[in-house]
Amino acid sequence: MRKLYLPIFWKLFIAILLTVAIFALLNILFVWNKVFNSMEYEISKSGINIAKNLAYQSIHYLLYKDISTLQKLTENSKNSDPTIVYSFVVDNNNEVLAHTFENGFPKELLNANLNKENDSLSIISINATNFVSKNIKDINVPVLNGKLGYVRIGVNYDSVWLDLKDSLITFILIFIIFTILGISGAFLFSRLISNPIKKVKLATESLDITNIDSKNIKPISQIRNKLKTPFRLQVNDEIDDLIEKFDEMILRLEKTYQKLVSTQQAMNQSEKLASIGTLVAGIAHEINNPLSGLQSCLRRMTERPDNIAQNLKYLALMSDSTSKIQSVVNSLLDFTRVSSSNKTKQDISILLDNTIKLIQYRQSFNKVLIKKLYEREKYFTLCNKNQIEQVFFNILKNSIDAIEEKYKINERHDGVITISIQSIDSYIFVEIQDNGIGIQKKDISKVFDPFYTTKDVGKGTGLGCSISYSIIKEHNGEMEIESEFMEWTKVNLKFIKYTNE
Ligand SMILES: Nc1ncnc2c1ncn2[C@@H]1O[C@H](COP(=O)(O)OP(=O)(O)OP(=O)(O)O)[C@@H](O)[C@H]1O
Ligand SMILES: [Mg+2]
Repeated sequence: MRKLYLPIFWKLFIAILLTVAIFALLNILFVWNKVFNSMEYEISKSGINIAKNLAYQSIHYLLYKDISTLQKLTENSKNSDPTIVYSFVVDNNNEVLAHTFENGFPKELLNANLNKENDSLSIISINATNFVSKNIKDINVPVLNGKLGYVRIGVNYDSVWLDLKDSLITFILIFIIFTILGISGAFLFSRLISNPIKKVKLATESLDITNIDSKNIKPISQIRNKLKTPFRLQVNDEIDDLIEKFDEMILRLEKTYQKLVSTQQAMNQSEKLASIGTLVAGIAHEINNPLSGLQSCLRRMTERPDNIAQNLKYLALMSDSTSKIQSVVNSLLDFTRVSSSNKTKQDISILLDNTIKLIQYRQSFNKVLIKKLYEREKYFTLCNKNQIEQVFFNILKNSIDAIEEKYKINERHDGVITISIQSIDSYIFVEIQDNGIGIQKKDISKVFDPFYTTKDVGKGTGLGCSISYSIIKEHNGEMEIESEFMEWTKVNLKFIKYTNE
């Protein structure tokens, strides 16, 4: 569906214009028609009266053929009303006896309105371009039922229009004034409505959802300038209600966001602990080796406490073993630490190496070759060290799992994970590619769904990728995954390069 954006002002403008236009149309249709009809009626009524009067007065003079008095009467009748254009009297043979035409009698008028009934009057419209005006109603009144003759009078109907013209101008003026008032009203009204709405829009747009703090929120209700009224009376309307609801909504949003953040943190932590579970066997092995070394050294030392030279050698070996155990425990502690939201300048290559060191406690790790295509001190970014290490851990763990799956099909497969880092413009791109089992095309979009896993119960939670994705997004970076089923899988990460500014 096509969407049209029409500001409130234009909506009001159209509505007002339509209302005024409909009002004018109805006015013309009903009121003006009525006025016109009644004026027309009045004019014809006075015309008929004048004609009848002339007919009555003419009887005597027609009988005695007193043409000069008849002429006077005819002229008097014409002059009695300004709407009368002409007046004339004919005898029963339709011979003109008296008329008011100064430039001679127009013959065509004679037969224009013949009164055949003889007992009543006859009125017809004449379009008399040759005469004084264009629209004339010709009234024919018989004298003594037409036995003596007929009286004819022409009434000018254009005068109805002339009379109405002044009122029409007033009417048009009122129409224009109403339109102008309406448009200014629409303008004022729309500003009254749309200005606070625009402010609400701007205020909500400038709200940083990731950085909401109830102390920092400037309630949207403050943005509306209150109308100052006497007696400290505050006039509120629906927009104030709306703004109030907005404020409430933002506060609720802030609470929900805080809850979300803490749930996410808890989720991250439990996912981390779950991944530690998968490392337990490897870690136990890693601690057990130096421990048994320690034990055998101790045994030998108790057997030969006097052999100082040999014991000194053993002590050095024991110190080696304890540092090994310490480093395992340290890296574990480091990984399980609840991450704070502090971001610091970090070298991505170091974070990757730390993670590789930790992941090698997985038993299947020794079957995998890791190719590192990066250097040191080149790829700095501002990040949360723990979180980014967790992302690398999740990705590498998936790669090792995928290679393991490939071994199930082909025992002689050489598992390789290639890690490259590149610094281009103001970004750092990390690519982690494995030659494991791969992902089918239809499943690739599900990988980032929380709890999507193809692994056995207890082996995968299905949270690794989705948590990594949200961590990367939270760092304003990007994470995507490509794969060719049975061939390879590549995870691309994009970080923002650290600059001193
Ligand atoms: N490198 C990869 N090669 C093949 N499949 C992968 C790879 N990375 C992810 N996947 C697929 O995506 C799914 C989801 O991965 P994700 O890391 O979110 O969960 P998981 O590994 O199953 O469980 P968890 O990471 O919580 O232990 C995996 O089950 C797997 O099918
Ligand atoms: Mg995983």
